[in-house]
Amino acid sequence: MAKSLNSLVLVSLLTLIIAPICFSMSTQGGPLYPQFYKHSCPNVEKIIWSVVAKAVAKERRMAASLLRLHFHDCFVKGCDGGVLLDSSGTLISEKRSNPNRNSARGFEVIDEIKAAVEKECPETVSCADILAITARDATVITGGPSWEVPLGRRDTRDASLSGSNYNIPAPNNTFQTIHTKFKLKGLDLVDFVALSGSHTIGDARCTSFRQRLYNQSGNGQPDNTLDQAYAAQLRTRCPQSGGDQTLFVLDPATPLKFDNSYYKNLLAYKGLLNSDQILVTKNDDALKLVKQYAENNDLFFQHFAQSMVKMGNIAPMTGSRGEIRKICRRVNH
Ligand code: HEM
Ligand SMILES: *[C@@H]1O[C@H](CO)[C@@H](O)[C@H](O)[C@H]1NC(C)=O
Ligand SMILES: *[C@@H]1O[C@H](CO)[C@@H](O)[C@H](O)[C@H]1NC(C)=O
Repeated sequence: MAKSLNSLVLVSLLTLIIAPICFSMSTQGGPLYPQFYKHSCPNVEKIIWSVVAKAVAKERRMAASLLRLHFHDCFVKGCDGGVLLDSSGTLISEKRSNPNRNSARGFEVIDEIKAAVEKECPETVSCADILAITARDATVITGGPSWEVPLGRRDTRDASLSGSNYNIPAPNNTFQTIHTKFKLKGLDLVDFVALSGSHTIGDARCTSFRQRLYNQSGNGQPDNTLDQAYAAQLRTRCPQSGGDQTLFVLDPATPLKFDNSYYKNLLAYKGLLNSDQILVTKNDDALKLVKQYAENNDLFFQHFAQSMVKMGNIAPMTGSRGEIRKICRRVNH
């Protein structure tokens, strides 16, 4: 009697515990995992790598541009391919936002990847997953670390212009503001400092850092945490007015190579963006990490890979939510 009562209690308890898990798995899906396309599209990573390799061989900067797209996707309502949507009907594209306008690029490469993947595995691989794999490949191709990319994201049917403006950090945000924007996405100080290391490759426009060269705090003076010779050199191609779109390498030491020289630059007060330099001037814990990464490339690579996986896990749509877009620029009908 006691025994059967016990097992009844046990079965009831298990039902109470397992049923909600099953329910949530079927609606929201389980966690992401690297083998997601093992049976449905076994060659997906090979296909993506070949298109990324071709695009980067054609233009080195493309690696940086592709890496950044994943970041601008994940920070806006999660890694859901939202950044890729063009405006259509009532949908307003995130490509118009302050961080993206005249800046985010690489969309044609994503189109080419999607077409190649659709050819082999129609309506199977999400645009959000393509961005995640592409970001990893872009890192590896430029000499950075590799990692297994958890997969199984689905694509949103919506974009968020306001989210893109609000959630993506701006180069003139304060340390606190950027730290808060990371925390809002479940990312900590290590993620903030390690992921900023992406600025070891790629370019920024004059307009993104001009304030530092001429009028940092509204007193007509340059940023006094910017190396003077470097500032003088930047001013020659980034005048007080005009030339907004002129490009400058984010890491003047090794602009095309993914390495820890970004952190060495910061310690020499040669960070290009204000958001770069504040990693050594505003917070002791951030400074400590910058010093560690500047001294230890392996540690930087290890933390970068871990933080990329964390960033890639921001609020994915899984299970039956969202859709698998056929074309990354627009939702399915
Ligand atoms: C920490 C806060 C961050 C801020 C304030 C920031 C801001 C910026 C800005 C202003 C630019 C130059 C845009 C332009 O002038 O057109 C840029 C470029 C870039 N960012 Fe960030 N970023 C941040 C974090 C990240 C993260 C987390 C990643 C990737 C994981 C990333 C990857 C890149 C890359 C690769 C480029 C160069 C893109 C290209 O050459 O096309 N950034 N960022
Ligand atoms: C940051 O830059 C934006 C765009 O240029 C500008 O509107 C804003 O006033 C700046 N904020 C600060 C605190 O300088
Ligand atoms: C610097 O910025 C302040 C505040 O925005 C402005 O009042 C001032 O005229 C600017 N000075 C110069 C030299 O541009």
